[in-house]
Amino acid sequence: AGLHSSAVAKGKLYFGTATDNGELSDTAYVAQLGNTDDFGQLTPGNAMKWDATEPSQNTFSFNNGDVIANLAAKNGQKLRCHTLVWHSQLPNWVSSGSWTNATLIAAMKNHITNVVTHYKGKCYAWDVANEVLNEDGTYRDSVFYKVIGEAFLPIAFATAAAADPSAKLYYNDYNIESPGAKASGAQRIVKLVKQYGAKIDGVGLQAHFIVGSTPSQSSQSTNLAAFTALGVDVAYTELDIRMNLPSTSAQLAQQSADYQSTIAACMGNTRCIGMTIWDWTDKYSWVPSTFSGQGDACPWDSNLVKKPAYAGILAALGGT
Ligand code: G3I
Repeated sequence: AGLHSSAVAKGKLYFGTATDNGELSDTAYVAQLGNTDDFGQLTPGNAMKWDATEPSQNTFSFNNGDVIANLAAKNGQKLRCHTLVWHSQLPNWVSSGSWTNATLIAAMKNHITNVVTHYKGKCYAWDVANEVLNEDGTYRDSVFYKVIGEAFLPIAFATAAAADPSAKLYYNDYNIESPGAKASGAQRIVKLVKQYGAKIDGVGLQAHFIVGSTPSQSSQSTNLAAFTALGVDVAYTELDIRMNLPSTSAQLAQQSADYQSTIAACMGNTRCIGMTIWDWTDKYSWVPSTFSGQGDACPWDSNLVKKPAYAGILAALGGT
């Protein structure tokens, strides 16, 4: 059995992958993406972000997002919808607007209501807020935090819940995969949203890791337990494990071990409901264009051939 089938056999909801509109003209890629033995869930890499969905105020564009949503539906794959409130890929009219507390709250609510309503019933989960924390666990200095204060978070979650009551609502961030100040900050956000009486269902751990410095399984397990003790689900949402190029067989073996320990941590927590890799092939990974000299972060190589990492993931999923 493949990755998704093996995950489901062990009680998980899905094993899935990010994808992006520009990749969908690659027929070999699309064929493997649609193999539900491996992938039971898709996340659009860019198509549902604010700059894509509301490029100018109150003018909405869902074309690219619809392509991914329709593909997932056609394939019978769950959809994780990503993301509503993020400081990045934010159109200028939001990031540089002259806002008051009231006008920015209204604009944020209008964005969330329109986008979530458009995809109502199609999203297993929404990443309502993304990357709002600094590394020390304090709030990032985004337009939302500066103008509204931390109340933008519960307001965003409450607005999303009203628009699609059945979507699971997540806070999503990176560098919260092992205990520390930033993970504690994310736990503070879970409590904050709940204290306001708004709904939060889960925390997404992005897990953009580096070969050889991936957090240990025990550290990740302890960390997951600290989140689930707050009464929320957790999911690995953007897993990839990069290395310095050119790769060596030793690095590829270590990468497999690092994938295995991460997936095993999720498998060991009943409230870790699913795992998503941030695209499955090195051909379309975001890593090389962001980290010069690094790459090969995915379980399939750029020829769409499985790397040792695939077997590491499958072993952790209990598959054969
Ligand atoms: O669509 C334009 C295209 O028209 C243009 O010709 C081309 C030239 O650069 O750029 C294209 O846009 C790029 C877009 O990806 C689509 O490919 C942007 O430049 C590029 O910045 C953008 O990168 C995305 C990145 O988020 C931006 O922050 C990556 O694809 C996407 O994988 C990445 O995803 C994020 C998650 O949302 C949040 N967590 C981290 C993760 C990795 O950075």
